[in-house]
This record gives sequence, structure tokens and C-alpha cells, in this order.
Amino acid sequence: MSTGHIPVLLPEVLEALAPLQDAAVIDGTFGGGGYSRALLAAGARVTGIDRDPQAVARGQELAGQAAGRFVMVEDTFSRLDSVLEPGTAAGVVLDVGVSSYQIDTAERGFSFQKEGPLDMRMGADGPSAADVVAQLTEAELTRLFQVYGEEREARRIARAIVQDRAATPFTTTLELAGLVSRVAGRGPPGPIHPATRVFQALRIYVNDELGELQLALAAAERVLAPGGRLVVVAFHSLEDRIVKGFLAERGQQGPGSRHMPAVAGPAPTFDTAGRKAVPPSDAEVAANPRARSARLRSAIRTEVPARSRPVNRPEGVPPLDEVSRRIVRKVRTGGG
Ligand SMILES: C[S@@+](CC[C@H](N)C(=O)[O-])C[C@H]1O[C@@H](n2cnc3c(N)ncnc32)[C@H](O)[C@@H]1O
Repeated sequence: MSTGHIPVLLPEVLEALAPLQDAAVIDGTFGGGGYSRALLAAGARVTGIDRDPQAVARGQELAGQAAGRFVMVEDTFSRLDSVLEPGTAAGVVLDVGVSSYQIDTAERGFSFQKEGPLDMRMGADGPSAADVVAQLTEAELTRLFQVYGEEREARRIARAIVQDRAATPFTTTLELAGLVSRVAGRGPPGPIHPATRVFQALRIYVNDELGELQLALAAAERVLAPGGRLVVVAFHSLEDRIVKGFLAERGQQGPGSRHMPAVAGPAPTFDTAGRKAVPPSDAEVAANPRARSARLRSAIRTEVPARSRPVNRPEGVPPLDEVSRRIVRKVRTGGG
């Protein structure tokens, strides 16, 4: 069982969201409530969102203690603009990824070091990691491990999974971690476990993490009032790239230079001037190694109306609902 979640970059998050007195803030990733509690203590009114029913139960407890200044909503953060009127939020904060509660609870199936069901769903529905490993073709699994895991041995791992699952389906974390170690774990032991990237890829896919993030950034643009703050803490480069790209696209254009004159584009919906990516301090990393790869990015909403934005999804990896359709089709045709 987990002993709790230590909030990452908390003073930096509060500073980037300031001023907070009486501000209406959406905490799109409630988790253990570390940010929400600090926001309440700083005088904000907070709406917490989480897709995980266990996090929602923690949030409901907090709502009971917060004298009408905190509301907990069970939902995905891609819909964070449904909890307040458009153009009214003073702040939106996202701390994307999994909580220590989730990773440390073996039954949730996130950890390749603890035996549990091969699940990895943050929410209560949708296909599990076991479903994905059972349903995707060898080519799709290869692409999944390449794109979401940046795994060099993707092809060999996918081939071994497809061979082995014909005899026995993968149902537990250690069965899959064992296969990956066997196929990709040759050579001297390195600093990271051989199954790290495969587990990361499955987790990202099962929870549509990158699609959710792209949708949430666009939703934040709609829900924030002019002057409102957007703050995102990301933990790996795939997420951070999305946040960085969004803010570059939507952010205040620089004045240009002799070599690269400013190009007239659509008016910026966010002001990013003077706001750089913030890493954790050495002291924070020493106290909480899980903060190691965190990066905070923030921006201030301008008065320019929100724009629409398509979600980019990689080619060669089927949409998540295709996994559910394949399961239904197999059951109907008696294929298991
Ligand atoms: C890193 S934790 C947040 C920790 C929190 N800031 C704290 O200090 O306690 C991330 C949380 O976001 C939730 N989450 C991740 N993706 C989500 C999504 N797309 N929609 C809603 N909640 C999500 C997870 O269930 C998890 O509880």
C-alpha cells in the first residue's frame, strides 16, 4: 500500500499561479490533494478533478472539511472546461502522470516490480494493459513501444509477446516484466529496469495520456479568464514536448531579430514572456527522487479568443476504442 504522494514543485506551482486570494482555480489532477490543500490554504477556491475513483474519494473527504471552498469532480481533465463557465477561471494546474498512490498499490498494475494484475487504468473503465497486450498485432505493439516508450528493442519484444500469448495470455505485471527482461535485458544491468519503457508505453496508451493532455491545454485556453494562469508539471519528454509546443504555438511572439524577423501570425492566446521551464531544486530531488524529471511550464492567458486545435495521434497505433471493439468481436465470434 502507498504511504501517500509528496507534491512536486509545490512552492513553484503556487508562485506561478499567484495571486491566489479568492481566485477560482481548477486542479485537474487532484491525486493526493497536495496542490489543492496548498491552494486552499493560500485563499483560493478550488475545483479538483481526477479520473481515479480512489483519488475522488480522498477529494470528497477534503470537500467535507473545506467549508464550501472546494468541490471534487470525477472526470478526465480533457473536460476541465465543463466545471466552470468559459473565460472565468483564474488558474488551471495540471500535474500529469501517476500518483504515488497508484504506482505503489500493486493491485493497480502500474509497477513492474510488484506482482499485480496487468491493469494500469487510472480511471474505472476502458481496456486494461492486459487487453492491449492481448489484442494489438505485432506491428501495432512494435509501434506502440517505439512511439510511447522510445524502446529500441520494440520489434523483438512485440514478436516475443505475440509468440508467447498464443499459449498463455499475459495477465500479470511480473509475467510481462519477466518477458521483457528475457528479451531486452541482456548485457550488464543498467540504471533502469529493462521493462521501464514498455510499461511507460502501455500506461500512456491505456490512459490516452498524450491525447488527454492536448485536449486539456485547449480546454484550459477556453476556461481561463484574461490574466488567468496555466501551470503544467510534466514528468517525461513526450508530455513536456506537447506543453512546450502548445505554448510556443499560442504564446506571445518575440520581437524578432536581425536573423529571424518576427512573423505575423494569429494573435497570441497566452503570454509566456519571462516564464522559462522550471526544474526541481537539488534539495527537492534529494528529498523526493520521483521529482527528478519534473518540469514546470506556465503562461498567462491573454484576451484573444480561444482557437480550435486538432489532436495529433501517431500513425500505426489504433485508437483505444478499437481495442474494445476487437474484444467484442472476438467474444461474438467465439474467439475468447
Ligand atoms: C501526479 S498525480 C497528482 C498529484 C497531486 N498534484 C498532489 O499533489 O497530490 C496525478 C493524478 O492525476 C490523475 N490523472 C492523470 N491523468 C488524468 C486525466 N486525463 N484526467 C483526470 N485525472 C487524471 C491521476 O489519476 C492522478 O491521481
